[in-house]
Amino acid sequence: MSGDMKEWIAELFRDHDLTRMGHAQRVEDLNLGLGWLYYGLARVTRPACAVVIGSYRGFVPMMLGKALADNGGNGQVHFIDPSYVDDFWKDAATVNAHFQHHGLSNIQHYLMTTQEFVASAAYRDLVSPGIVFIDGYHTEEQVRFDYESFRDRLTDEGVTLFHDSSYVKPSRMYGPDRIYTRTVRNFIDVLKQDPALQVFDLPFGDGVTLVRRASAPA
Ligand SMILES: C[S@@+](CC[C@H](N)C(=O)[O-])C[C@H]1O[C@@H](n2cnc3c(N)ncnc32)[C@H](O)[C@@H]1O
Repeated sequence: MSGDMKEWIAELFRDHDLTRMGHAQRVEDLNLGLGWLYYGLARVTRPACAVVIGSYRGFVPMMLGKALADNGGNGQVHFIDPSYVDDFWKDAATVNAHFQHHGLSNIQHYLMTTQEFVASAAYRDLVSPGIVFIDGYHTEEQVRFDYESFRDRLTDEGVTLFHDSSYVKPSRMYGPDRIYTRTVRNFIDVLKQDPALQVFDLPFGDGVTLVRRASAPA
């Protein structure tokens, strides 16, 4: 690992909240866990645009932001989150400072749901994303909406990733009075029936599933 990357991860992991949320990170050896996959995929595919739906403290937006910055050029991460868990994403200046603290100025946050984003000018003007990472509200219905909102906007090589795809289980993310069952897995099972798709599970941490078209159009 280059010294720069090591220092970057060490600073990232000083924030305990960026070592959580089921991405299989390990602090002792500065191991980004699934973060390597997110970073590596963006280094390999070099998208001009990536979209992230939902994040607790920005782990995935920052993995992709770092990769796009390291790729050179002007790659942008578009990060959609209405800040439903707490106030963390509510103030634009604080959000920018959070990303700047980690050396990143290529993450654009939208304080809105996916439903609101698709009705916005930003959605209309979006450059085709090469990566869409879905980690917002984890019901089958919502991840279907998230997926279908970007499916036809992806580049030919585009990949969609679904986090928390391994298990159907309760989430207490929104407080003890708003427990709901995470059913991302059920939507993945539907996608697996479609022969036009490649669907690949990685059941590490809370699991991530990669989806892409079986073959790009000629
Ligand atoms: C904290 S992350 C994921 C955490 C964890 N993996 C889990 O089990 O839920 C979920 C984020 O999705 C956001 N979110 C909730 N509903 C959303 C929606 N309709 N569109 C976009 N983001 C949403 C929330 O504000 C929250 O920050």
